[in-house]
Amino acid sequence: MAEKKRILSGMRPSGKLHLGNLTGALENWVKLQDKYQSFHFVADWHTLTTDYEHTDKIWPDTVEMIIDWLAAGIDPEKAVIFVQSHIKEHAELHLLFSMLVTVPRLERNPTVKEQIRELHLEDRVSYGHLGYPVLQAADILIYRAHGVPVGEDQVPHIELTREIARRFNQLYGEVFPVPKALLTPFSRLPGLDGTKMSKSKGNTILLSDPPDEIEKKVRLAVTDPAKVRMGDPGHPEICTVFTYHKKFNPDEVPEIERDCRSGVLGCVACKKNLAQKLADYLAPLREKRKELEGRRNYIREVILEGNRKAREEAQATMDLVREKMKIGKFWDV
Ligand code: TRP
Repeated sequence: MAEKKRILSGMRPSGKLHLGNLTGALENWVKLQDKYQSFHFVADWHTLTTDYEHTDKIWPDTVEMIIDWLAAGIDPEKAVIFVQSHIKEHAELHLLFSMLVTVPRLERNPTVKEQIRELHLEDRVSYGHLGYPVLQAADILIYRAHGVPVGEDQVPHIELTREIARRFNQLYGEVFPVPKALLTPFSRLPGLDGTKMSKSKGNTILLSDPPDEIEKKVRLAVTDPAKVRMGDPGHPEICTVFTYHKKFNPDEVPEIERDCRSGVLGCVACKKNLAQKLADYLAPLREKRKELEGRRNYIREVILEGNRKAREEAQATMDLVREKMKIGKFWDV
């Protein structure tokens, strides 16, 4: 059989993960791990772009997130799971790449621009923040990955990565494949209030939430404002709860749609049903998580072993890079 192609993706350490992380990334990673050589890492240095003042939680959040990866079915026998800051070679490659990119090129990145706007950083954005897509290019290219499974917002970074790969190859010799973004097939799941899902907004369901917590959260979800009581006809196409039914309860969707429109189905019953389906959907995950929480040594072993495999690959690439660039080691003259 031909060698499997390689994919790589990372997440910032956000602690316990939510449903959006599951449907937007993890489920896709799990599916891809049979078809590709998979590398998945915790992008902890990337956290510093915005949260450099609060570093105490980075490690506990890293561990909690990896527990959720494993609970969701990322299999350490198939995928390499590692921590970015433990593989120092990323930093060396980032430095070399940073010379190949102009500042205006970085300032044009729409995802970075939006972040700067949202965080009101207009005239005090750090050098590291503006440059994190270059670090991301190093994260990807150091493993010579062919594909990067990501959401739409990451596409500008992959575009930059492709430019850097081509530029390097052309300047110093072929080292890097030019990777492609593998877009996540599901559109982004909205938060329970209908806006963008985000842990800081409190509109998420965590993968670790117990059934009563799920029910409490779903009860507060935003539905069609025109449907006030049972009997009122609803508009499922604008209802967040209906969006969730489509993903987590597809079998009952036609019936729910019909009964919501006619008014026979009230929001209270509809939400109760959804809460139950979500609890069922997450039950195996929650169970696996509980088991993993009691096996800290195992988690440690998974990370150490993943780091070892990642480091080996990263070192091999850096040897090649130093060779091509004629810098970074001793040469006989
Ligand atoms: N920037 C990504 C995010 O914010 C995380 C990330 C860092 C990443 N390096 C990566 C994703 C490399 C894919 C590949 O979610």
